[in-house]
Amino acid sequence: MAHLNSQDFRARYGPWALVAGASEGLGAEFAGQLAARGLNLVLIARREDVLEAVRARLQSDYAIEVRVLALDLAREDLAAVVEQAVGDLEIGLLVYNAALSMIGPYFAVSLEDHLRELAVNCRAPMTLAYTLGLSMLKRKRGGILLMSSLGGAQGSALLVNYTATKAYNRLLAEGLWDELREQGIDVLTCCPPAVSTPGYLASAPRGPMAALTPAVVVSAALAALPGGPVLIPGWTYRLANFLMQRILPRKTTIKLMGRVTRKMYQQPS
Ligand SMILES: NC(=O)c1ccc[n+]([C@@H]2O[C@H](COP(=O)([O-])OP(=O)(O)OC[C@H]3O[C@@H](n4cnc5c(N)ncnc54)[C@H](OP(=O)(O)O)[C@@H]3O)[C@@H](O)[C@H]2O)c1
Repeated sequence: MAHLNSQDFRARYGPWALVAGASEGLGAEFAGQLAARGLNLVLIARREDVLEAVRARLQSDYAIEVRVLALDLAREDLAAVVEQAVGDLEIGLLVYNAALSMIGPYFAVSLEDHLRELAVNCRAPMTLAYTLGLSMLKRKRGGILLMSSLGGAQGSALLVNYTATKAYNRLLAEGLWDELREQGIDVLTCCPPAVSTPGYLASAPRGPMAALTPAVVVSAALAALPGGPVLIPGWTYRLANFLMQRILPRKTTIKLMGRVTRKMYQQPS
């Protein structure tokens, strides 16, 4: 699929895009790169003041409209609340970026936190892909981009539930891509390795490993959206993923991931 210029991108995925998890990191970068393509934006996150700062910056840099929606994506009435707030807009692109990442041994994390992780990482993207996707289907036009992770290709110690939620996003996007590809709706799941976002940098007490920048990941994802369904940014990571998924025995792959996460997150005893 040829690279879309801003005008074609806007015609295909505009006039509004909704970015869930837009206050910082990859989400704020998605908002910036979509604004640069001339799309109006609905920005969702919990911290209203931070979202307002993103809105102010984007509206001073670009001639676009921005609507801010401060809410917790884990809330059970998400579909109704979002419909009420943005039902009047033609949203042609959903970027579901928010995620909760509970780090630690499975039984050291409370059941309540595991369930919250499921709500933010699985129930919310499924809900928004359904409600916003239904309107796209009626218009026979649009795009859905779900953030997964390279970590979602296999289970991992210390990130047990998180990696499972990321696998869910990948499979949700793959199935949707096949159902919607003849309907004018593009679906992509982006599976990055470590990315130098504030959330990632704060989460690794023993120092983060090499990471891509949000700008690189977001430009690759937006360029890959028309083609779908899966993007792993960076050829070295595609190669590593190939080796881990196709060559190594499954047990070795899982243990390798566990070694990496233990090295990053486990305090030396
Ligand atoms: N960074 C990495 O190394 C990496 C690697 C692979 C995959 N990914 C994936 O990439 C995506 C973004 O990662 P990131 O590092 O940019 O994340 P992040 O820095 O933790 O930011 C997440 C965004 O989501 C919002 N958010 C979190 N929980 C929310 C909730 N319950 N309700 C509403 N908004 C919420 C946060 O804003 P508020 O705090 O204001 O709500 C923030 O804007 C995630 O899906 C992650 O799984 C990241």
